[in-house]
Amino acid sequence: MAFTKVCTLKDIPEDKGLKVEDGETSAAVFKVEGKVFATQDLCSHGLWSLSEIGYLEGDQVVCSLHMGKFCVRSGKVKSLPPHQQLKKFPARVEGEDVYVAFD
Ligand code: FES
Repeated sequence: MAFTKVCTLKDIPEDKGLKVEDGETSAAVFKVEGKVFATQDLCSHGLWSLSEIGYLEGDQVVCSLHMGKFCVRSGKVKSLPPHQQLKKFPARVEGEDVYVAFD
């Protein structure tokens, strides 16, 4: 599994995700209680960017278009209308640097 450095911890907002990319693959990284999680950036319902229109409520990202909610730890749907969970990407932190495995 190849990890790519995508940002530093302080680049990630406290209340929302940060979009990161590796070639054609995009992800959103979230900071919750000092831990970093990465999911697909596009909402599984309407394919809007969660890092752009979403915001965090605890460990859930809320898509503001239709108020669907996903757990950023698991990617699972927590509130409809989305039915499909978000793809998760392994993420890790080394010092201040954040790494995501896109493959
Ligand atoms: Fe995200 Fe509909 S586009 S909940």
